[in-house]
Amino acid sequence: MLTAASSVLEGAAPSFTGSAACRTCHPAIVVDFFRNPHYKTQAIAGQPPELSGCEGCHGPGSEHIAAKGDKTKIIAFSELASRAVLGNCLRCHAESLGRSQIRRSQHSLAQVACNGCHSIHGSKTAKYLLAREQRDVCYGCHANVRAQFSQPFKHRVNEGFMTCSDCHNPHGAQAPNWAMGSRPRMVDAVLGNEEPCMKCHADKRGPFAYEHPATRVDGCGACHTPHGSAHTRLLKRPAVFTLCLECHNGLGSFGPQGDGIRTTPSSHNMADPRFRNCTVCHARIHGSNASEKFLR
Ligand code: HEC
Ligand code: HEC
Ligand code: HEC
Ligand code: HEC
Ligand code: HEC
Ligand code: HEC
Ligand code: HEC
Ligand code: HEC
Ligand code: HEC
Ligand code: HEC
Repeated sequence: MLTAASSVLEGAAPSFTGSAACRTCHPAIVVDFFRNPHYKTQAIAGQPPELSGCEGCHGPGSEHIAAKGDKTKIIAFSELASRAVLGNCLRCHAESLGRSQIRRSQHSLAQVACNGCHSIHGSKTAKYLLAREQRDVCYGCHANVRAQFSQPFKHRVNEGFMTCSDCHNPHGAQAPNWAMGSRPRMVDAVLGNEEPCMKCHADKRGPFAYEHPATRVDGCGACHTPHGSAHTRLLKRPAVFTLCLECHNGLGSFGPQGDGIRTTPSSHNMADPRFRNCTVCHARIHGSNASEKFLR
């Protein structure tokens, strides 16, 4: 095994110098470091040098120092491919982020690595070392989503009442068991494996004696656009009945699709505007404990 001393003597592999040696040339970074959550890796006694302080991320510094700051002789994140960044950070963060299968997340597959959102030395947030306030980090690449949250009806993300990570896990999310057929879009699961919506809209959670399969199987997105909408209640369609008729349409008591979905009964005269306000009568549209037809 190489000791620090022998490697210097032989001019072989670079060795660990400890964080204090970086101070001469990077004073601001070293002085600020005690406020960084990563200072823990330096403060805890007995950490191996490759997991401690500056060199815990940047690797052994002796040759970089001997060469008066040659950046090819140190791990410089500005030069690393995204896979290498992931690998570096996951030496310590694999356990907490492994659950989200970060290596297979859409961000990782699109070469967006940790430093696309986090900044170790230049963070602007009190928590989580984000490069900027969370929504601004995300809008940096997802500019179109800002417009969705500026619609007349929306979740108040732009106003600061909610964040993207209330619904998404930017580190990735496994395919959920609701809305099985659709892409997961890194939508986070809560309470075991439910849509994140249930965290806040617990009254929609059920279980109900009479479930509306549209909610239970297809998911909230069958009728709502989660970011924002031009229509009240974040509905996908301007009029409720057009939404319902997407599934409850056709002739006969079951529609022509052969999917077992009931058509609106003949008692419902669609020419009569009264019948178009489906949820005036079907008031418990998300599920009911009292009425099979969700009437109460
Ligand atoms: C948790 C991993 C980690 C630790 C610990 C760490 N750095 Fe960094 N360092 C980075 C990353 C990632 C970057 C790329 C820029 C960023 O994310 O802020 C970076 C960038 C730098 C830069 C380039 C200048 C800049 O601000 O972009 C210098 C110099 C540097 N680090 C020195 C240090 C020193 C000195 C220490 C110890 C006091 C240290 N680093 C500790 C990860 C780390
Ligand atoms: C003798 C002065 C000196 C010391 C001591 C020194 N550095 Fe540097 N370092 C530099 C200079 C100069 C640069 C800029 C090189 C360039 O831009 O080409 C640099 C660049 C870096 C970079 C690359 C930043 C980037 O991404 O562009 C990192 C990382 C870094 N130093 C980390 C460290 C760490 C960690 C230590 C302590 C183990 C350390 N340095 C000690 C002079 C020094
Ligand atoms: C697409 C943006 C993005 C990427 C890429 C990303 N993060 Fe995060 N990360 C966030 C956001 C946003 C939060 C704050 C989440 C919250 O507010 O609950 C966070 C929180 C964290 C936390 C603290 C909370 C927790 O879940 O443990 C750690 C640690 C973390 N990230 C590490 C990493 C590492 C390591 C990588 C790369 C392997 C990475 N992140 C990649 C956006 C990102
Ligand atoms: C040597 C181990 C180690 C490495 C490598 C490492 N981290 Fe950490 N990281 C930690 C520890 C320890 C904490 C503090 C955890 C705590 O406070 O419980 C932490 C905390 C964090 C946090 C959460 C900060 C908060 O406010 O909760 C983020 C974000 C983070 N690291 C990102 C990164 C990124 C990005 C990289 C790669 C550039 C990285 N880490 C590399 C050990 C490491
Ligand atoms: C550095 C650029 C970048 C940043 C920052 C970023 N993303 Fe992404 N994001 C991407 C790319 C690239 C993809 C994959 C291509 C795509 O599907 O749009 C993606 C995909 C996604 C997807 C899946 C899209 C789909 O169609 O399935 C979601 C959701 C997402 N990002 C949310 C976020 C959130 C939330 C944040 C902030 C915490 C964030 N992103 C920050 C670049 C970024
Ligand atoms: C109220 C929950 C919620 C919040 C808050 C939220 N999202 Fe989403 N987002 C979703 C759901 C659910 C989907 C999946 C929609 C689908 O598959 O049709 C989605 C889809 C996406 C997509 C892929 C589809 C598209 O429209 O491009 C991106 C990108 C995205 N979100 C980014 C963000 C960003 C960035 C933020 C914060 C600024 C954010 N989301 C906040 C629930 C949310
Ligand atoms: C972090 C909490 C939270 C999460 C998660 C959340 N919501 Fe909301 N939602 C709210 C709040 C608060 C309002 C009230 C509107 C406002 O912010 O002014 C709201 C409003 C709504 C409305 C409109 C209600 C009205 O009276 O106009 C719908 C529909 C809705 N949410 C559906 C969803 C769906 C679908 C999801 C999951 C994709 C979701 N929500 C996730 C907090 C949340
Ligand atoms: C079958 C279509 C459909 C599905 C699926 C659906 N909703 Fe709704 N939702 C509606 C309609 C229609 C309204 C407006 C009711 C009205 O006219 O008062 C509504 C209203 C709401 C409201 C505001 C009024 C209230 O009752 O609190 C919230 C919040 C809401 N939905 C959340 C959700 C959540 C969360 C999910 C997923 C668990 C979901 N919805 C699934 C059709 C649906
Ligand atoms: C995504 C498809 C979908 C949408 C949209 C949808 N439903 Fe349903 N609905 C179903 C399915 C599937 C069933 C169960 C099969 C059946 O009974 O037709 C069901 C059952 C019902 C039932 C109970 C039928 C019974 O006798 O058990 C009523 C009432 C109903 N839906 C009303 C509505 C109303 C009102 C709307 C609009 C707010 C609506 N549905 C939107 C798919 C949908
Ligand atoms: C004036 C009240 C009222 C309105 C408005 C209304 N319904 Fe109904 N609906 C009922 C009643 C009561 C029943 C159960 C008795 C029956 O079959 O007529 C029912 C039954 C149903 C059923 C179950 C049919 C079956 O075969 O069991 C469906 C599906 C349905 N309605 C869909 C809709 C849709 C879609 C709309 C809007 C276009 C709507 N309803 C508007 C009162 C209403």
